[in-house]
Amino acid sequence: MCQTQGNVEKKKVLSCIQPSGMLTLGNYLGALKNWLNMQEEFDCTYAVADLHAITVRQEPAKLRAQINSTFALMLALGLDPEKSTLFIQSQVPEHAQLAWILSCYTQFGEMSRMTQFKDKSAKHSDNINVGLFAYPALMAADILLYKPDFVPVGADQKQHLEIARDIAIRFNHIYGDVFTVPDAYIPKTGARVMSLQDPSKKMSKSDENVNSWVAILDSKDDIIRKFKRAVTDSLGTVRYSEEQLGISNLIGIYSAVTGNSIEEIEKEFDGKGYGDFKLAVGEAVADELAPIKQRYDEIIADKGELERLYREGAVKAEKIARKTCFKAMKKVGFVL
Ligand code: TYM
Repeated sequence: MCQTQGNVEKKKVLSCIQPSGMLTLGNYLGALKNWLNMQEEFDCTYAVADLHAITVRQEPAKLRAQINSTFALMLALGLDPEKSTLFIQSQVPEHAQLAWILSCYTQFGEMSRMTQFKDKSAKHSDNINVGLFAYPALMAADILLYKPDFVPVGADQKQHLEIARDIAIRFNHIYGDVFTVPDAYIPKTGARVMSLQDPSKKMSKSDENVNSWVAILDSKDDIIRKFKRAVTDSLGTVRYSEEQLGISNLIGIYSAVTGNSIEEIEKEFDGKGYGDFKLAVGEAVADELAPIKQRYDEIIADKGELERLYREGAVKAEKIARKTCFKAMKKVGFVL
C-alpha cells in the first residue's frame, strides 16, 4: 500500500526509538528532526521500539508510562498519523516473529562485533541476556518488514543498519527478492551529539549526570543552565577542531539547530567569549524545543486519544508487516 504523489510513488522511510527514559537533544538532532523533515516527501513509518527496551531491566509501570510518553512526543514533534504510520512495536507481533527467522540467518561472529553489545554488556554485567546479544536481528526485522529505502538514524546506529543490510542481502541471495536493502540517512550535523560534561562520550539519557544531557522536555531555564555549565577548554576561541571537543560539540549543536554552517558560526563568535557562545546555544536550543514541550503537555493529558491513535497505527503497520513476514515464512518453507 504505497502512497503516491501525483502518479510518482513516494520512497519509503522507517525508523524507531526506544522508550527508555527521557528523550534527549541527541535523539532529536540525530534522528527525530529528520523524521519530521522527511514526513512530507516520503511515505514514513515510525515506531516506539519497546521490545528493544527490555534488553535492560525495566520497571513495568515506568516502562508503560515511558512508552506513552514517547508516542506522545512523536505527535508533539509534528508527526501526523494521517501522513505517517505511527505505532508501538510490541503491538505488531510480526516484529518478534521475523526477528526469530532473521536470527537464524545471522552469524554469532558478526553479532559479537557489535559495539553497542560490547558497551551495554560492560555496563550491565549482571544481565548480559540473549536478547541484548540478538538485538540487531530484531532491529533488522523492524526495518525489513516495511521495505524502506531510507532509515534516518544517528551515527551510533550505523553499525546496526549495516548488519540489517547484510542480513537482507544474504536472505535475498538464498530466496530471491524478499527484502529491500535500505540506506542509512544520517544528518550532516547533529549525527553524534556528545555529553555536555564529557564531550568524548555520546549524549545519552542513561548518563547519571543530568547536566551531561538535555531532555527534549526540559524547561528553558534548565536548558540554559546546562549549556552554561557545559565543559569547554582554556583556549578561549570558538573553533571547530579536535583539540576543542567541547566547543566543537556546541558548534555542531548550534549548527544543527540554526542551519548555519560551521564557518558562519566561527565568524559570528569571533572575538567573543565562551559565556556569550554558550548562552546563544542554550537559547537557540530552548527556543527550538519550547513548542514541542507545549504541544506534548496537551497531548499527554488526553490518554484516550493517544490510545486511539496508537491502536490505529498498529493496525495500519501490521497490514504491511504481515505481508512481508508471510513472504519470508513461505520462502523458508513454513506451511501457511
Ligand atoms: P535509540 O532509542 O538509542 O535512539 C533513537 C535515535 O536517536 C539517535 N541518537 C543520537 N543521535 C545523535 N547523537 C546522540 N547522542 C544520539 N543518541 C541517540 C539514534 O541514533 C537513533 O536514531 N536501536 C535503536 C532503535 C531502533 C531502530 C530500529 C532504529 C530499533 N529498531 C529500526 C532504526 C530502525 C536505538 O536504540 O535508538
